[in-house]
Amino acid sequence: MTSYLQIADDEKGHELDLFCVPRHYENDLDKVIIPHGLIMDRTERLARDIIQDMGGHHIVALCVLKGGYKFFADLLDYIKALNQNSDKSVPLTVDFIRVKSYCNDKSTNNVKVIGGDELSNLAGKNVLIVEDIVETGRTMQTLLSLLNECNPKMVKVASLLVKRTPRSSGYRPDYIGFEVPDAFLVGYALDYNEYFRDLSHICILNEQAREKYRV
Ligand code: IMP
Ligand code: MG
Repeated sequence: MTSYLQIADDEKGHELDLFCVPRHYENDLDKVIIPHGLIMDRTERLARDIIQDMGGHHIVALCVLKGGYKFFADLLDYIKALNQNSDKSVPLTVDFIRVKSYCNDKSTNNVKVIGGDELSNLAGKNVLIVEDIVETGRTMQTLLSLLNECNPKMVKVASLLVKRTPRSSGYRPDYIGFEVPDAFLVGYALDYNEYFRDLSHICILNEQAREKYRV
């Protein structure tokens, strides 16, 4: 069973003024739900779990842009630290793809994959997909079926967040940082129409901001 840190539905979060939040977002956020430090501590442990399971063989870490870039960078730093401080180590290469499925605060059925090296390079490799958040699970299921056509040796998925939602298809990643309530979350590279990636903590967006940044 995959373990994760559960953020309860009645979790009240933390007042914004207890942390450093950019001035330009002060009126857009309700609460800090996961402070940056806690994200880092949980990510450190995920790195250890991943190396324990996948560490026998060259890993290709595949970052799902744009939302996954912070988690990807921090997770890989922790994996690198393990690699350079223990007797066992594995080569790690990286690749980046873009997947777009969201408009405003709604997941759409239309999942597009853009960029990355030839996926056929993944044949015979241990692939670690790194994603920010799984909501319905459609993005990841689409991506997994594409990757599996390339005959990788192993594919694992690490997602920082999984949303508890009735819209879920039932798909669960192999590594989960936090399970979160069914709210729209921003920060630590998670965006709302491209805003809020430049916020360190994971926060709940308020109603007013949904209108303000709507496209
Ligand atoms: P899914 O296909 O419904 O699982 O949606 C996954 C994608 O939707 C993620 O990769 C995110 O980019 C985006 N997403 C889902 N929920 C949120 C959220 O609360 N905040 C920001 N992006 C989200
Ligand atoms: Mg994403």
